Amino acid sequence: MPELLAPPAKNTFHTYGIWLYTEKSRAIKNLKKEHNPSVHGDKHWDSSYLLMDYFTHNPLKKKSRILDVGCGWGPTSIYLANAGHAVTGLDVDDHVFAFLDVQAELNGVAIKTRQGAMASMKKADLSKFDVIVGGDICFWRAP
Ligand SMILES: C[S@@+](CC[C@H](N)C(=O)[O-])C[C@H]1O[C@@H](n2cnc3c(N)ncnc32)[C@H](O)[C@@H]1O
Repeated sequence: MPELLAPPAKNTFHTYGIWLYTEKSRAIKNLKKEHNPSVHGDKHWDSSYLLMDYFTHNPLKKKSRILDVGCGWGPTSIYLANAGHAVTGLDVDDHVFAFLDVQAELNGVAIKTRQGAMASMKKADLSKFDVIVGGDICFWRAP
């Protein structure tokens, strides 16, 4: 059945049930004046759509606790939070979180964030998660 989806804001696009800002949006342009991600967390990377597609066809157990490593602007985190999971976005670059936060708000989801490198995660940290995901991480060493 045809469906009309009204965008929640100008310069947004709909993908896998969530809304993301385009580069042209005022929200992203404003954030780019203050935040300068330096480890490639400077856009939505296409691998996140691959993960969304994978989890659409292979849903996780309800209310999984998920760690999104190298979360960047948070597309995968937001998709998984929108599906009802408890998501933490981990990123080595503190500058990405403002972009994640503004897009989480756009979708009405809450995502915990944690600044740090994957290598800094101890067994006790990782034991708090059921699933670890990551797309296009590149694995920079901790600065
Ligand atoms: C290419 S971007 C991908 C961002 C996001 N996953 C996406 O699909 O849009 C890589 C991200 O990984 C982060 N990153 C790189 N090395 C990391 C590491 N060792 N630990 C945690 N995050 C890391 C970067 O800061 C950046 O945000």
